[in-house]
Amino acid sequence: MTTVATALALSLPISLCRPSKLNTKKGVKGGLRVFAVFGEEGGIEKRSSWGPLFDVEDPRSKLPQCEGKFLDVNQALEVARLDIQYCDWRARQDVLTIMLLHEKVVEVLNPLARDFKSIGTMKKDLAELQDELTQAHRQVHISEARVATALDKLAYMEELVNDRLLQDRNATALEQTSPSPSTSTQATNVMQRRLPRKSLNVSGPVQPYHPRLMNFWYPVAFSADLKDDTMVPIDCFEEQWVIFRGKDGKPGCVRNTCAHRACPLHLGSVNEGRIQCPYHGWEYSTDGKCEKMPSTRLLDVKIKSLPCFEQEGMIWIWPGNDPPTATLPSLQPPPGFQVHAEIVMELPVEHGLLLDNLLDLAHAPFTHTSTFAKGWSVPSLVKFLTPASGLQGYWDPYPIDMEFRPPCMVLSTIGISKPGKLGGRSTDQCPTHLHQLHVCLPSSRQKTRLLYRMSLDFAPLLKHIPFMQYLWRHFAEQVLNEDLRLVLGQQERMINGANVWNWPVSYDKLGVRYRLWRNAVEQGAKQLPFEKQM
Ligand code: FES
Ligand SMILES: [Fe+2]
Repeated sequence: MTTVATALALSLPISLCRPSKLNTKKGVKGGLRVFAVFGEEGGIEKRSSWGPLFDVEDPRSKLPQCEGKFLDVNQALEVARLDIQYCDWRARQDVLTIMLLHEKVVEVLNPLARDFKSIGTMKKDLAELQDELTQAHRQVHISEARVATALDKLAYMEELVNDRLLQDRNATALEQTSPSPSTSTQATNVMQRRLPRKSLNVSGPVQPYHPRLMNFWYPVAFSADLKDDTMVPIDCFEEQWVIFRGKDGKPGCVRNTCAHRACPLHLGSVNEGRIQCPYHGWEYSTDGKCEKMPSTRLLDVKIKSLPCFEQEGMIWIWPGNDPPTATLPSLQPPPGFQVHAEIVMELPVEHGLLLDNLLDLAHAPFTHTSTFAKGWSVPSLVKFLTPASGLQGYWDPYPIDMEFRPPCMVLSTIGISKPGKLGGRSTDQCPTHLHQLHVCLPSSRQKTRLLYRMSLDFAPLLKHIPFMQYLWRHFAEQVLNEDLRLVLGQQERMINGANVWNWPVSYDKLGVRYRLWRNAVEQGAKQLPFEKQM
């Protein structure tokens, strides 16, 4: 392993430690000696009940001399571990200080003691004790902050180690599969672009979409919404398209602009598998060929069409110029789930911002206070753990698995212990689950077409309750509106130059990885980071 941290970077609270006033007065420096003092003053019974709490060794003696030195991963982790141990020890000493001071207050107020002390002396003693108590309480708050900082550092280091392991693993895999030196260099370049997370910059007006981002299959509609005689207009990468079914029932996607005089075709109708322009009646088949021109001689005219297929209840298009890949990804929920709702929404935000939002769970207890996260407490640490390919993993401490599926999909499985309640430590431990698919289709630079599909592995009868679809839609809109006002605000600031990825922290891992993946696509990287082979 190479160098990843220095002792200076860790800025250990140990180096800042100072014994408290009370401890200095009593000559108490370590857990054992404090214990002895407490024993003398608190009596045998208290010592036996409280003693083990404070009988903890001061870890400072174990700290290696490392200030200013470069440490390898294991040494740095050991230092971080001692760091936390020290915070724990420090907190115990603070609590002990407070307890001793309380003892003293009781002692001063003791009726027997009052007999021997003047009121003036008692007041003075109490004022002194009050000062010491205030200081001790302040010390406890400082200890709390130190524990939080130490945990944060540990999480950051864990991420560094994970990234390093992932890098090593990918590098080894690339070396094994690509013996050519030029390919290896390219792969290394991809990694170098991926690692410096501080350089992530998403600011300014949304740039025109890079053509490379178009070379993917994109789901654009649910099959159920495309009847034989209906049309679904969609915007995709700033272009307007319309989807309809041909005579054979297969879907087609053509430009939503009539070749004659640019009338929107979706305002017309579908007749016998052809879309008819509402202006002068020209009719186009699913491959874009004009097959009817009423009132004039038929000319050889064609409008642009895109590769369009239907799979597992969704309509897919390939908007890019490269030849489409042979297989379409599967977005099915896991076995045992039934689809309960399919909802489409047009949202006035850039699709990347919406994906950033969906790939983040840490915001839930702050943002979704009226909906699914009502009453959630704020955990001391939220982490996204990625044991496998890097774009999928699970949220700690929530029973939620999540995956970013390129190019624009988020899949999540939420463990529910009782209907409507989150519970359990992991999704596997929960008896019932809700599965969600979010597709964020890039419609235009400030517009996303969101396809949302919700499935459950329980309550199959809910599906048959009339109007249930409307209720699900209402819930989904409520949740989304809680996000939307914030994302719209981000978008406005981003357009004016703010960087929406200015300061990523440990729980931003999945969102950051999406951005790194997207950057790599736009830069034309041969090997995309994190992506599993499909
Ligand atoms: S504009 Fe479409 S037929 Fe004339
Ligand atoms: Fe949200």
